[in-house]
Amino acid sequence: MSCRACSGPVEEFFDFGRHPLSDAFLLPEEIADEFFYRLAVGVCKSCTMVQLTEEVPRDRMFREDYPYQSSMSSGMRDHFTRTAHQLMEERCHGADPFVVEIGCNDGVMLKTVAESGIRHLGVDPSRDVVELAADKGVQVLVDFFQRSTAAQIKEEHGPADVIYAANTICHIPYLDSVFEGVDTLLTPDGVFVFEDPYLGDVVERTSFDQIYDEHFYLFSASSVRATARRFGFELVDVERLPVHGGEVRYTIARAGHHEPTPGVAHMIAEENRRQIVDAAILEQFAMQVKRNCEDLVSLIRRLRESGHSVAAYGATAKSATVTNYCGIGTDLVSHIFDSTSAKQGRVSPGMHIPIRSLEDLSSSRPDYLLLFAWNHAEEIIAREAHFREKGGKWILYVPEVHVV
Ligand code: SAH
Ligand code: TMP
Ligand code: ZN
Repeated sequence: MSCRACSGPVEEFFDFGRHPLSDAFLLPEEIADEFFYRLAVGVCKSCTMVQLTEEVPRDRMFREDYPYQSSMSSGMRDHFTRTAHQLMEERCHGADPFVVEIGCNDGVMLKTVAESGIRHLGVDPSRDVVELAADKGVQVLVDFFQRSTAAQIKEEHGPADVIYAANTICHIPYLDSVFEGVDTLLTPDGVFVFEDPYLGDVVERTSFDQIYDEHFYLFSASSVRATARRFGFELVDVERLPVHGGEVRYTIARAGHHEPTPGVAHMIAEENRRQIVDAAILEQFAMQVKRNCEDLVSLIRRLRESGHSVAAYGATAKSATVTNYCGIGTDLVSHIFDSTSAKQGRVSPGMHIPIRSLEDLSSSRPDYLLLFAWNHAEEIIAREAHFREKGGKWILYVPEVHVV
């Protein structure tokens, strides 16, 4: 198979097997028609891009009722408010700046830009969540960002000074169309800034649940720079972010227009030193994934056998990888509690664990809660303080299985 980014040869290093769509929470009558694909991940020998080896059609994932809402976490709301101020202060100096966000979701970032009176546009194909952005006063276009959308935006609004995306570019297999769109839409001195889960952190922390249908790519500074260069761009800055278990924010500019910061060469040197795409390292990662999964299942099985009740918290997309790969069904975890109304009353993809509201958590009082939203651990453990005060315990599985 060949690399979706550069057409080079791809070597598969982990096959999770048959998996459902990670964000397809089902009504009982939808179970019979559930969609499955083969979840497997490989690395390009030529550009080092880590990617899925099977692509799910985009309209199956990003549809009218796509349920993920970015604003559910107060930590993420704070992160994106800070991001908006930073982008406006550093990148919006011209007379009438224009900011475009790819994958604006419910407007968590652009809300602050809109409130500041700066021209902006959010592009996102998932209608229900985009309507939440519009309700916040955000200008939106319900569509997939690609070459043609970029041309249409430029025609209607003129060029963009900043094109920003969070947790979205790694969702888009067709990077050629994205970069050509950015080339069309961006001003000569403009920047394309995007942040996504970092391969270096996934390997180091065994956060294998970052691998699922929507996360088509797992970026590193090396693979992003190689991709940018093929389209006449340069990676000019990198910043580590503590969100979602470890991300990197990449800043891309037209080649020759901005001097790369020393941080870029430093991060790439570190990636080379760690050999994060070396076959031996990836094999070690694969072994650690299997071990964590076995540890998790045997811990929950022991707890259940000794009469403890176990439920889960956070019906995350990530959890589809954990439940389906490890084989965690209702025999081990009775329910998943989640704050998203669009997920409640449905069952989880593949393993069909019922999703219930947070209000139901206090009445059902499980002994243990498996934290699928481990990336928001601090926020959630504080929010649900009464659970621990009453003797409840949290189970985490990143970087390894442990109870707190
Ligand atoms: N930026 C938000 C949302 C991330 S979820 C955050 O960081 O929390 C990913 C979002 O990307 C979804 O809302 C999805 O609808 C959108 N998306 C997927 N493919 C896209 C594409 N080609 N163009 C624009 N948005 C896309
Ligand atoms: P994420 O890890 O992909 O951001 O998803 C987090 C999920 O957890 C999402 O479905 C919302 C849910 N959630 C809660 O139920 N309670 C909370 O306090 C937080 C922060 C998230
Ligand atoms: Zn490649």
